[in-house]
Amino acid sequence: MAGLLRHAGGGPFFVTFKEAFMDIVGICGSLRGQSINRMLLNLAGDCLPAGATLDVLAWDEVPAFNSDVLAKGLPPAVATLRERIRRADAVIIATPEYNFSIPGMLKNAIDWVSRGDDQPLLNKPVAILSATPGPLGGARVQYDLRKVLLFMNAAVLVKPEVFVGFAHQKFDAEGQCTDSTTRGFVQSQMDALVRHTKLQQQLQQLQKLA
Ligand SMILES: Cc1cc2nc3c(=O)[nH]c(=O)nc-3n(C[C@H](O)[C@H](O)[C@H](O)COP(=O)(O)O)c2cc1C
Repeated sequence: MAGLLRHAGGGPFFVTFKEAFMDIVGICGSLRGQSINRMLLNLAGDCLPAGATLDVLAWDEVPAFNSDVLAKGLPPAVATLRERIRRADAVIIATPEYNFSIPGMLKNAIDWVSRGDDQPLLNKPVAILSATPGPLGGARVQYDLRKVLLFMNAAVLVKPEVFVGFAHQKFDAEGQCTDSTTRGFVQSQMDALVRHTKLQQQLQQLQKLA
């Protein structure tokens, strides 16, 4: 999204960054149609500033991870998922908590994405949100997911964290958020993600010049 211009000649070296479009992909950790985490992901997309877009990915055809399958080549659904993440400026993951941890299908998809030196989450800005009908809002799944993503050297946004407890009371039948406090937390996180993404991209550009 940020184009780096290098100015040399005459004065001291300096760089400027040109504002441009920001392409963000969303991954919902739940595959069910009426997922409250998908509603939360959509809310995150609504909170992005002009010039940033959210593309919620369909990844339900990713097969069970199997090294024997990988040895024959990436399955098409995995290759598509990896390339879409690679092209994106940032990733937003909204997920439920299953048995105090990461839903198996989501962990399986991340395991596929994690293989190889060219794994696309390397240095990729990632924001995590979670929603549950219970009171804790997925507090435990977030730390497991954060641990996995940090191992992959993703640039996971630290704060603000967004845990939406009693989430079924905070979205209406059309999936719209009815709770201004939730909307405010998500807005703050999306503002932070955009700043974080710009900073990461500037750092990477400077590393290339160094
Ligand atoms: C297999 C399974 C395990 C679950 N474990 C937890 C849990 O550990 N903590 C929790 O708060 N909710 C748990 N739940 C309830 C989910 O938070 C709830 O079903 C939620 O609506 C799922 O998210 P979704 O609406 O995005 O599909 C579990 C649900 C399932 C199906």
